[in-house]
Amino acid sequence: MELPGGVVVWAITHHDTLQALLADPRVGKNPQLWTTFREGRLPYGWPLLNFVAVPGMVTADGEDHKRLRGLLSQAFTPRRIAALTPTVEARTLTLLDAVAEVAERQGEFDLREHFAYPLPIQVIGELFGLAPDQHDDLHALSETLVSSAATPEAAIAAQRDLNALLASVVAAKRAEPGDDLTTDLIAAREAGLDLDRQRLSEAELVGTLLLMLIAGHETTLNLITNAVRALFAHPDQLRLVLDGAQPWSAVVEETLRHDSPVGQFPLRYATEDLEVGDVVIRRGEALLASYAAAGRDAGHYPDADRFDLARQPARHLSFGHGPHFCLGSGLARLEAETALRHLFGRFPGLAPAAGEQPEPIRSFVSNSVRTLRVTVRGATGNDGAPACGGDGSGHPVT
Ligand code: HEM
Repeated sequence: MELPGGVVVWAITHHDTLQALLADPRVGKNPQLWTTFREGRLPYGWPLLNFVAVPGMVTADGEDHKRLRGLLSQAFTPRRIAALTPTVEARTLTLLDAVAEVAERQGEFDLREHFAYPLPIQVIGELFGLAPDQHDDLHALSETLVSSAATPEAAIAAQRDLNALLASVVAAKRAEPGDDLTTDLIAAREAGLDLDRQRLSEAELVGTLLLMLIAGHETTLNLITNAVRALFAHPDQLRLVLDGAQPWSAVVEETLRHDSPVGQFPLRYATEDLEVGDVVIRRGEALLASYAAAGRDAGHYPDADRFDLARQPARHLSFGHGPHFCLGSGLARLEAETALRHLFGRFPGLAPAAGEQPEPIRSFVSNSVRTLRVTVRGATGNDGAPACGGDGSGHPVT
């Protein structure tokens, strides 16, 4: 398929093929493996350049990948994620109080802007020690970065401003270390400066921050938004959850499959000629992981377009697969389940606002809608949802 700027790649849209290629050692993520990149043939201001070239785990292979991922993996273990439950609960309840006020004043509110966005940005921002007044700048810049509608000039400016923002975060934490993951990354870099093998370059430090902060909020924002839309469109499925016949975790997993928050993720490269079905992907050619398409692959999922909480098995590829499997899947699940449980606990009559016909985000990566205006007929005034992950599903948070 053709990406913006006329760049040609192989889109991998079938579930089983995608699963196999994501774990295939003959497929790498270092952009130097890509002939088009190596030969400098990408167009000026190519909007996806950042995904392809950001220095960090997402563009690294083998030992390099292990080194970069290892720096953060300890912070996202099931135990560490479970310990975040009270924070996620508290942020969720505070946000719901705020949206209840907006709803009362205006009769409706944009659920994406006032609830689905602030929850994950607050949580990831806090983990990495961002000042709250940096959240909106970060979000605005990252929206440009994932946009397929940005002009080359806008894409380059967003990249520059984002790097400047993150460099200022690093400088502030160097001057005044905190109890946060940015401080930990700086310490890892400084501890490794004499040890060539463990060294984290300054560019990798900023690249890792960029990856974590964007991946840590844009995706979960889409997941919460997409789940609410799916429940609006399938009131029978919502009823199953409200009656306790299905857990909130099933809503999260089925949304991930049915409407993957990451539509497609650029890019991977063949390190040798690969026979895939009846085509040959040549060494040096690029592959695009098409997660949204794979989630609707009728060859893998019976009646793939149906949103069905009872689907068995509920497995999907929407957090990736293989060595680059999403580092934040446990956090995303915790945030989305908590958000949905409390949202519908507080506002059982939640419904789309009259005339709301949301437009899709114009992005190659991010899959959701730009707004989701809702009304809250029959709010309970307090939250009848069970506390702390108690949806009875027993679903693990990783
Ligand atoms: C609904 C929420 C999320 C979805 C759907 C999602 C999806 C994905 C996918 C599909 C990948 C694989 C990309 C590829 O190589 O093709 C990935 C990787 C990654 N995700 Fe997530 N993600 C989510 C939330 C998060 C959160 C909350 C964080 C951080 C706290 C995070 C951090 C990462 C990182 C660091 C990687 C790269 C891992 C590596 O290259 O080894 N993600 N995610």
